[in-house]
Amino acid sequence: MANIVIVGTQWGDEGKGKIVDLLAENADAVVRFQGGNNAGHTMVVDGEQFISHLIPSGILQKKICIIGNGLVVDPKVLIEEINYLKQKDITVTPKNFIISDRAQVIMPYHKLIDTGRENLKADKKIGTTGRGIGPCYEDKAARTGIRFVEFTNETGFAEKLKAVLAEKNFYIEKFLKLTPPVFEEIFAEYSEYAKILAPYIADASAAINKLIKNGGQILLEGAQGIHLDIDHGTYPYVTSSNTVAGSACAGAGIGPKYIDEVIGIVKTYTTRVGAGPFPTELFDKTGDFIQKKGAEFGATTGRRRRCGWLDLVVLNNAVKLNGLTGLAITKLDVLGELKSLMICTGYKYKNGIIKDFPADGKVLEKCQPVYEEMPGWNEDIALIDKYDNLPQNTKNYLKRIEELSEIPIYIISVGPQRDRTIVLNNPFLNISGIKTPSFT
Ligand code: GDP
Ligand code: IMO
Ligand code: MG
Repeated sequence: MANIVIVGTQWGDEGKGKIVDLLAENADAVVRFQGGNNAGHTMVVDGEQFISHLIPSGILQKKICIIGNGLVVDPKVLIEEINYLKQKDITVTPKNFIISDRAQVIMPYHKLIDTGRENLKADKKIGTTGRGIGPCYEDKAARTGIRFVEFTNETGFAEKLKAVLAEKNFYIEKFLKLTPPVFEEIFAEYSEYAKILAPYIADASAAINKLIKNGGQILLEGAQGIHLDIDHGTYPYVTSSNTVAGSACAGAGIGPKYIDEVIGIVKTYTTRVGAGPFPTELFDKTGDFIQKKGAEFGATTGRRRRCGWLDLVVLNNAVKLNGLTGLAITKLDVLGELKSLMICTGYKYKNGIIKDFPADGKVLEKCQPVYEEMPGWNEDIALIDKYDNLPQNTKNYLKRIEELSEIPIYIISVGPQRDRTIVLNNPFLNISGIKTPSFT
């Protein structure tokens, strides 16, 4: 029996959706614990692509899927997602899908404030997804948020909405100079959403703890990436939640003693959407090659992702912050055809070398990556399903990642499809709890 947390080690879009979908086969439930529909998690099964923004990426494996209390949820988007899955004959009922009664509801004013603020910022934009994530988490912290428990209670909802709207509309009208939303309109529209979602609302923490008690295996699906974490990321160019593995317990409502493994998803290169420092970013032909071959466009906003080399300062920061026990390496196929590959092992700053990820964005902006060069490979590895059959240079590259991070590689992904994967160690199958050694 094992409970596993999955986190993105970089700036998001590492391929969490694919790996969660894959591992979900042996899980009993998949739980999202933070973020909202700023996430876009892609699964490719039987030639068909699914992008999930809110429903955990275990839904295609027909597992119990749970939205934890740590999320901010746009009800309209969630209903669209449920309907989309139903159209594809994927069952979503209150028997296999739960929304925590304590999760926060994203309201129209959150989205208005998110985009309105960004528009005022000129050259200092964060490049948010515009989904209202930040303003909704602000309200949670300010204790003025609306949770699903109030949302689905008609009188409670009306009361809360009226009170909060008075303050929001003052800000929207006077500061953002935008047209404020009207109480009656929001109430009418969102009461309908509440009715549709009411059957799914439950005490998610109680449900997860019961599953664990009954011997179930839980997969906790992180969103975004560690360097977008509100505390540990490249502040202020971050999202508004804690994305680190430690947040899984708070956002799902379980105790830390139940977590057995933390798997960090590592894209074999680095990408970032939105603004903020990115030391290994490439502005040349290699960057364009990776962007095109890797089809690096945002799964949520469609924005072109910035691309760069693999950064071990970033990965080692993720190792430290999450207590990673294993790595899943994704998009290895994309690096084929490149003559040589660069791994950043430190940052040159002033006259020294930095190995620890700096807190100060101004310092990070001035950091020059120090690279180790490794020979690439020409072979197309997309159809390889055994580690032994990988080209020697590919093995050397993987081995170097293990050496530099001191964390074993559990999974190697060589294509977007579920089956384009080499699994070296699946902790869900490792029932004895004794870790199988890595391949190095
Ligand atoms: P997430 O947000 O971490 O779930 O990642 P996204 O779904 O936003 O972005 C990852 C993209 O890479 C998606 O289009 C996936 O289908 C794709 N992908 C995942 N693993 C691989 C892989 O090993 N090779 C290739 N070529 N594509 C992959
Ligand atoms: P997944 O789960 C990549 C980025 C945005 C922006 C910053 C703040 O698919 O990996 P927000 O809307 O959260 O206030 O935006 O965070 N961002 C992501 N980048 N993948 C994501 O999710 C992201 N979620 C937010 O681009 O820079
Ligand atoms: Mg994504």
